[in-house]
Amino acid sequence: MVHTMSTLLIKNPAQIVSPRPGSLRGAALNDPVVRTGRSVLLRDGHIAAIAPLEELDVPQDAKVLDATGRTVIPGLVDCHTHLVFGGSRADEFAQRTAGATYEEIAAKGGGIAGTVQATRESSKDELFELAEARLNRAMRHGVTTMEVKSGYGLDLTTELKMLEVTAELDAVHPVDLVPTFLGAHAVPKGVSKADYLAQVREMIPEAANSAKFCDVFCEEGYFTPAESVEIMELAVKHGMLPRLHADQFNAIGCVDVAIDLGAVSVDHLEAMNEEGAKKLAASDVVGVLLPGVSLFLDIPYAPARTLIDAGCIPAIATDFNPGSNMTLNLPLMMSLACMQMRMSVDEALACVTQNAAHALRLPEAGCIEPGWQADLLVLDTANYRDLVYFYGENLVQTVIKKGVPHAAR
Ligand code: NIG
Ligand code: FE
Repeated sequence: MVHTMSTLLIKNPAQIVSPRPGSLRGAALNDPVVRTGRSVLLRDGHIAAIAPLEELDVPQDAKVLDATGRTVIPGLVDCHTHLVFGGSRADEFAQRTAGATYEEIAAKGGGIAGTVQATRESSKDELFELAEARLNRAMRHGVTTMEVKSGYGLDLTTELKMLEVTAELDAVHPVDLVPTFLGAHAVPKGVSKADYLAQVREMIPEAANSAKFCDVFCEEGYFTPAESVEIMELAVKHGMLPRLHADQFNAIGCVDVAIDLGAVSVDHLEAMNEEGAKKLAASDVVGVLLPGVSLFLDIPYAPARTLIDAGCIPAIATDFNPGSNMTLNLPLMMSLACMQMRMSVDEALACVTQNAAHALRLPEAGCIEPGWQADLLVLDTANYRDLVYFYGENLVQTVIKKGVPHAAR
């Protein structure tokens, strides 16, 4: 949403740290621009200038944010979430702590099906309020842009209800939301696969009015690679861009179809083997890593090091959802990526800024350079690495979205 235009000076930060512009891979992931002795001038929602204070042309009426001793980084982009849903799966969490697996719970009729029922029973207002409170939490942790999937309706009415909630929340909330249609998240109870696929085909033209992307849960027991292709080809005809949930529990060829389709991203990859990693690395498809899912479900981590060393374009997201990751703390996902997947701090930073913005095809977000959208964070530390090092803490002091500052605490 667009706010009142004005000028804001971020004065004297200890560091201004940003990845370079572009979709980053290889050595470029470890080459951020670190500026010291510079201030930042924001005008009309964009970055106007980055220079020593005395060289900046600061208007009389500019607001001033004193950032002495603090660090400025780009606003974070969470490029994979299921923000909108009703109900709770805390009972299933308890079952899992007692030893049941995600797949066992799903096979017994729980999992996604339970959230579908609760989401169908929730009014639009209820879903809106829940999503808004969650989005506020994400923003306090530094998120300025978020992708939001449907997929807990599995019928036309509820899928559209989820997309409408997303659009209405986007219209009133500072954080930008990017909607994705995930009608093919699971086959709903009481419907055959063939009938449901026919329903999804009918949903696509309507969903395409509001969703930028189309996603499919390509997995054993959900949708096959062939079914994913069929859905995606129709989605593309209607103007949506494809992205896929792939290789979460089993590698069944979903990454190959994503590459063939020219998908924007493949997300999860926990079960990916080395051959798959190399294929993905040779493509322009972003590999979205979701380390919080591995922690939360106690499944293997995606082979991030193999992917990155082979030249993949990586991103990191929360995958916030009631079944496989219940945190909106994206900096914590960066810490997990560093501690459990052997990524560097600079790689993790590029993965939640520039590369995540690229995964959402948002060319103005995720970088601190003159001309870019003024989405920035002021961190309560003089060293940007503390954002990852102080894992589980929140070092975000101020979230600036399109030039407008919001206190994070
Ligand atoms: O991204 N993997 C499929 N979908 C979600 C989980 C959905 C759920 O359990 O509610 C995910 O992990
Ligand atoms: Fe997901």
